[in-house]
Amino acid sequence: MSRVALVTGGTRGIGAAISIALKGAGYRVAANYAGNDEKAQAFSEVTGVPVFKWDVSDYAACAAGVAKIEEAFGPVEVLVNNAGITRDAMFHKMTPSQWTEVVNVNLNGLFNMTHPVWSGMRDRNFGRVVNISSINAQKGQMGQANYSASKAGDIGFTKALAQEGAAKGITVNAICPGYIGTEMVRAIPEKVLNERIIPQIPVGRLGEPEEVARCVVFLASDDAGFITGSTLSANGGQFFV
Ligand code: CAA
Repeated sequence: MSRVALVTGGTRGIGAAISIALKGAGYRVAANYAGNDEKAQAFSEVTGVPVFKWDVSDYAACAAGVAKIEEAFGPVEVLVNNAGITRDAMFHKMTPSQWTEVVNVNLNGLFNMTHPVWSGMRDRNFGRVVNISSINAQKGQMGQANYSASKAGDIGFTKALAQEGAAKGITVNAICPGYIGTEMVRAIPEKVLNERIIPQIPVGRLGEPEEVARCVVFLASDDAGFITGSTLSANGGQFFV
């Protein structure tokens, strides 16, 4: 029986590409989403990937969502923590809610989603957790003190948990996408995107969601069993760690 993969924020943007790529690689995929019912239903109809709505910043909702998916499909063996939001503002204009919302989804969401699947992975001596961080965790980004901090937290979480999972056959890795051509990036003011960001990308273009999705498929595979605690950059040469 093929493995079950759960992708948070898995119906749009990079997450949608990840869901599709994992399905193409033979996984039984469940995609979580938080907001847009219409887009999620359309995604499900086109791809055949079942979709489940809950907010990753709510621990009880995550535990209930995982339980529902495990009851329907079996144990979650691959978890992709992809759900993320931006609330960009220069720090002097940033509100406490812009800070808290971003940290709650982008960082606390990793605890909320990983905790409910972790014991099962330990019991079965197998698991793959892939956390989608960001280039802006690595280099920082003006207008994103909240986002950069939360995504850097994801890398610390990855490294700590990798050490705990290693002896139990569980790998935990992070991917740091650069600027990928999704709605999130296209929401950046056009002038900023064209004049300040794209010129900083040596390959001269935004990335494609599928280019990140292929990294996930590799890290989820049996072939990647020796890779854990790592941070894989996919950023068109914009930043080297
Ligand atoms: N790099 C370099 N300069 C930037 C910049 C950036 N990313 N963002 C803004 N600036 C510059 C602007 O060009 C402007 O400079 P000038 O005054 O010389 O023209 C100055 O900073 C102030 O910018 P704004 O006039 O836009 O100020 P604002 O208060 O209206 O908005 C902002 C500030 C919210 C930060 C807005 O500029 C913005 O959204 N910038 C983009 C921030 C960004 O890169 N976000 C990444 C989103 S994608 C993502 O997060 C996915 C991922 O993981 C990579």
